[in-house]
Amino acid sequence: MNEKPFRVVLVGCGGISRTWLRATAVFPDLAYVGLVDLDVAQAERLRAEFGLEGVAVGTNLADMLRQTNANIVFDCTVPEAHAAVTQTALAHGCHVLGEKPLADTMANAQAMVAAAQASGQLYAVIQNRRYLDDIVRFRALVQSGELGQLTTLNADFYLGPHFGGFREAMDHVLLLDMAIHTFDQARYISGANPVAVYCHEWNPAGSWYAHGAAAVAIFEMSNGVIFTYRGSWCAEGLNTSWECDWRAVGTGGTAVWDGGSTLHAEKPAGRDSFIRPVQPIALPPLQKLPHSGHAGVIADFLAALHGEPAPQTTCTDNIYSLAMVHAAIESAKNGRRVLIEEVIGQHNSLPITVY
Ligand SMILES: NC(=O)c1ccc[n+]([C@@H]2O[C@H](COP(=O)([O-])OP(=O)(O)OC[C@H]3O[C@@H](n4cnc5c(N)ncnc54)[C@H](O)[C@@H]3O)[C@@H](O)[C@H]2O)c1
Repeated sequence: MNEKPFRVVLVGCGGISRTWLRATAVFPDLAYVGLVDLDVAQAERLRAEFGLEGVAVGTNLADMLRQTNANIVFDCTVPEAHAAVTQTALAHGCHVLGEKPLADTMANAQAMVAAAQASGQLYAVIQNRRYLDDIVRFRALVQSGELGQLTTLNADFYLGPHFGGFREAMDHVLLLDMAIHTFDQARYISGANPVAVYCHEWNPAGSWYAHGAAAVAIFEMSNGVIFTYRGSWCAEGLNTSWECDWRAVGTGGTAVWDGGSTLHAEKPAGRDSFIRPVQPIALPPLQKLPHSGHAGVIADFLAALHGEPAPQTTCTDNIYSLAMVHAAIESAKNGRRVLIEEVIGQHNSLPITVY
């Protein structure tokens, strides 16, 4: 039996699991004790690829948790499996860090959050796009007051990846599988929670996805900010970054960020012309995070198990990002403005994190 403080069973040994295994190589307190996949060959392949000889492999999470002394489950399965995996792991006394999206449906999300709260164990979600040096700097600029009071936040996402696999078959592919990142980023940047959304979703001519490869959404946020999203996963040429092209407009100036290393901000330099002259706004310094991407979320998750505060993406907070997705889907289906509290239901009294 492994005696390290963090003993992990990883479930779902597909594409993203490799990112997790690379990310966790820097945490000496953590050891893998089991790998689970419905297709055992996937688990065996992953074990061989990462030199994890001696780590158990299997097809059933509950059996694996009974035969190992795991205290953490990493959930890298497909979205429809997240609810069952998380609830099984919590029921066996494990803390859970799972891939986005938290769940495929709000009903499953609510059951998972309730199970985590009842168990007293930690359940958090990977939202790796919060843990990038450049978004931390963009957010610091927006939150510094240099733009005045934030009024408007826009995000554009135009990419044309050919994934194959579950994404090309699923419904609402852009909103459910990708926009969750952008919506969560919008909450992080604006420091606000969603109130309502109007969304139009469609599958453009030529799309190689079965459903919903494009969407436009207008969110009203709790601090009065309007957040707009335009996205497509079947747009080839002149691509944005995966982190989106952003524009933040405040009462005192504007900033644009390309999701990478380019950030510009300007404010008026005078008061007496039709279009006023502008001057650059000094940018906050770019600071290197100790861990970025997946490793950043995992570091905060492990720190919380060592007694530090709950991670930013703890389930009671992350359900608000998921609610943005499901409210957008509901709006697109019914052609009307949807209140976030309509989809978050019984959990509308959950604590709200102010970053
Ligand atoms: N954070 C990110 O940037 C990021 C990037 C890619 C994928 N993801 C997320 O990661 C998850 C997995 O995506 P992927 O691209 O690795 O998919 P994938 O299809 O490559 O791998 C999923 C694996 O899970 C296994 N699986 C499915 N249901 C299972 C179950 N009930 N028990 C055990 N194993 C099960 C499948 O057999 C498969 O091997 C999704 O939720 C996806 O949205 C996140």
